[in-house]
Parts: sequence; C-alpha cells; structure tokens
Amino acid sequence: MFDLSGKKALVTGSTQGIGFAIAKTLSDHGAAVFVNGASSMEKCARAAEQIPGSVPVQADLTKPDDIDRLCDTVGGVDILVLNASIQYKRDWDKFTAEEFDAQMLCNVKSTYMLIKRFAPYMQKQKWGRIVTIGSVNQYNNHPQLLLYGVTKAAQLKLVRNIAPQLAPFGITVNNVAPGAVDTPRNRDALSDTDFYNKVISSIPCGYIGRPEDIAPAVLLLCSEEGRYITGADLVIDGGMCL
Ligand SMILES: NC(=O)c1ccc[n+]([C@@H]2O[C@H](COP(=O)([O-])OP(=O)(O)OC[C@H]3O[C@@H](n4cnc5c(N)ncnc54)[C@H](OP(=O)(O)O)[C@@H]3O)[C@@H](O)[C@H]2O)c1
Repeated sequence: MFDLSGKKALVTGSTQGIGFAIAKTLSDHGAAVFVNGASSMEKCARAAEQIPGSVPVQADLTKPDDIDRLCDTVGGVDILVLNASIQYKRDWDKFTAEEFDAQMLCNVKSTYMLIKRFAPYMQKQKWGRIVTIGSVNQYNNHPQLLLYGVTKAAQLKLVRNIAPQLAPFGITVNNVAPGAVDTPRNRDALSDTDFYNKVISSIPCGYIGRPEDIAPAVLLLCSEEGRYITGADLVIDGGMCL
C-alpha cells in the first residue's frame, strides 16, 4: 500500500515543518523527492541530508526567475505538493503593498504557475498528483490573518476549478487544510502560555497537531490508492473548525 516507487515529487517549502514531514513521508514510501526552500541552498541541503536520495533546490517562489529555474532543474514531476507559504500577522488595515504582494505571489500565483508548468508532463504520463496545503483560515476570520486567509481561499478555488479539468488525464488535485500545527512558524507564539492555552481550548482533540499528523493524509492523496479523491478539501485540525 502507498508505494511511490518510480515517482518524482516536488514539495515546496520542505526545509522544515509540515513540508519537511511531507517530503520525508513521500520519500519513505519510495518517491524521489526534491526539497525546496527560499532562504538558502545550505538550508535546503541540510534538510535534504535527512531524506536519503532527495535533491535540494533553492528557489524563492515570489520570484518568477526562481520559479523558472526550479522547473528547469526539476524537469517533470509526478507529484507536486504546494506547501510553501508566506504569512504576515497584522490588523486588517496595517498590511503594506509589499506584504500584500509577497503573500499573493508565494501562496497563489506560484501555485498557479507551478501547476501550469507541471500539468503537461502529468497529462502525458496519464498520471499525476497535485496537493495544495491550505489552512483553516480559508474559512475562519482571524482578525490578523486577513490576507493569508484570502490567499488560502484563492488557492482552494484553483484546486476546485482545475480538479475536474485534469481528472480525465488521471491527475487528482486536492487541498489539505491544517489547523494549529507545531512548526518553526508558530513556535514563538505557542511558547506564550496564555496563547497556548487559548489555542488548546479551541481544539476538541485537546492538543496542537504535529507535522506528522498532516503528512499521512498527503501520502494518501499522492498514492495510487487515492486515485478517486479529487477536488477535495481535507481539513486536519483536531476538530478546531467544528
Ligand atoms: N503551522 C501551522 O499551524 C499551519 C496551519 C495551517 C496551515 N499551515 C500551512 O502549512 C504550510 C507549512 O507551514 P509550516 O508551519 O510548516 O511553515 P514554516 O515552518 O514557516 O515553513 C515554511 C517553509 O516554506 C518555505 N518558504 C517560505 N517562503 C518561501 C518562498 N517564498 N519560496 C519558497 N519557499 C518558501 C520555507 O523555506 P526557508 O525557510 O528555507 O526559506 C520553509 O521550508 C504552509 O502553507 C502554511 O500556510 C500551517
């Protein structure tokens, strides 16, 4: 079950956190994985060292030239996991134009551009798996995550629109929407006891998720066994949204 031998996978934003757990899980099940991050090649290489056989590729997804270079380096992939995102926390009227653009470029535009670049290869293979990583903020109205929520809702729209168009080619397109997950992104915030307790009290399961709680669902969606699941939005949040 869940044998990805012979499949090539790109996981964006996989130097740490949820992306790293996804890359590791796909690799553990046989996929040849490309590990990506924006900040430095050294960080990409450090992450790749922990995933046997994986290949590091530095590319900042807010930059069109980097996206081109990433696609040229990677060639075709059978599995595309769009996990990288930029998140700014501000009151709704405090975002700068640059912050607006960065979130849109990384979280929405690069998702569209990468699906567009890799879909033809998948169509030729008559097999492909595309998974976007969304967030419960697609739905929730967090007062300081207005633009992040907008980008995640937009990304889900891409998934729902493209999924039926690629389904006849054996390609599935799905979204996974995590709740609160313990990653470097929110470690500072969660180290505040009051905030931590507030978050915990909003999660029926009673604990913060770990990246390993998200990766198995992505594995299912990327596997042959997941072939009949497309256009889905899988919320993984310990019941937070209920
Ligand atoms: N953690 C949560 O509670 C939570 C909840 C809901 C949804 N999510 C979503 O889950 C995904 C992963 O979150 P996380 O918490 O694991 O994030 P994280 O710890 O902040 O890691 C983000 C990853 O994305 C990469 N990245 C950032 N900007 C990039 C860019 N411009 N181009 C390419 N890569 C870039 C980072 O690479 P470098 O550091 O090497 O640049 C890093 O590998 C995101 O889409 C996030 O929105 C997370």
